[in-house]
Amino acid sequence: MEIIATMSSRSSGYNNNINNRFGFGVGVADGLSMNYYTLSCPMAEFIVKNTVNSALQADPTLAAALVRMHFHDCFIQGCDGSILIDSTKDNTAEKDSPANLSLRGYEIIDDAKDQLEQQCPGVVSCADILAMAARDAVFFAGGPIYDVAKGRKDGRRSKIEDTINLPFPTFNASQLISMFAQHGFSAQEMVALSGAHTLGVARCSSFKNRVAADPDVDSNFAKTMAKTCSAGDNAEQTFDATRNDFDNLYFNALQRKAGLLTSDQTLFSSPRTRATVNAYALNQAMFFFDFLQAFRKMGSLDLKDSSTGEVRANCRSIN
Ligand code: HEM
Repeated sequence: MEIIATMSSRSSGYNNNINNRFGFGVGVADGLSMNYYTLSCPMAEFIVKNTVNSALQADPTLAAALVRMHFHDCFIQGCDGSILIDSTKDNTAEKDSPANLSLRGYEIIDDAKDQLEQQCPGVVSCADILAMAARDAVFFAGGPIYDVAKGRKDGRRSKIEDTINLPFPTFNASQLISMFAQHGFSAQEMVALSGAHTLGVARCSSFKNRVAADPDVDSNFAKTMAKTCSAGDNAEQTFDATRNDFDNLYFNALQRKAGLLTSDQTLFSSPRTRATVNAYALNQAMFFFDFLQAFRKMGSLDLKDSSTGEVRANCRSIN
């Protein structure tokens, strides 16, 4: 295992005055390395970053989409680009599951892949492109930057039924803790990862259970949710006041009982996770530090190797 750098004192990353956006090194998963494409495709990082930046300049809401796509990729069959595969007449793929229908941003990955195939055909995996794109999206939105270790292989399986293993928005803290524990995450890491909901929106269908019957909602916020839902199941509401900014306002919203999903609000309601929510609400630098470590860990889940995976020529179909 390669260690690129270590922090001598974790506490120095928690200084709100510094508001440090610049990543700290953590361990790198076996089989991955920071300089994986240095010789085989030296422009890889540059091409992905440029592609992401120009897409997000045109539509900043796509930062949320890329972050979520990386999560949904890694939790199902590991980080292997399985989320990118299109359905065929014989196979309904992950992306056509109800849990994934509101994912967006596939064309950004395709665009980067097309350019990379011209520069260095058959070298850069779709799973790596997605991991780099999610990292670049977090930074574009004002969140922490970090190095992405590369060398993931693309998987050959993408099946709708596997997506049953994504968390449901109606989950309570215990259910979330046990699902994330199955992937090796602590409760604190789960809360940090949930902080990705500082970006983006949910549709009414994901939170309407909270509009009428849930006692764990601020009454004004319940009215806001009801107003959104009056426009139908697909009407969108932001998780916090700053949809495109990676900040800690999501955690402040939870303290006010203005969390959008049951799975958000439960993090404050449950004594098992409330202290972490309060800490992140108070200290954005601490959130950034914990998020980047947990997000990098997520980016190394259940990796394929060259016998179980491949480098796809086209991210939407297996070779
Ligand atoms: C803790 C369990 C989680 C649950 C139950 C959950 C569920 C959801 C749901 C239901 C939506 C809205 C979908 C819709 O209505 O169309 C959503 C959006 C989102 N999720 Fe999660 N999520 C969880 C964790 C995460 C994690 C770990 C990440 C990334 C690290 C993440 C990133 C996002 C982002 C960025 C959006 C906004 C997407 C957009 O605006 O396009 N979520 N999530």
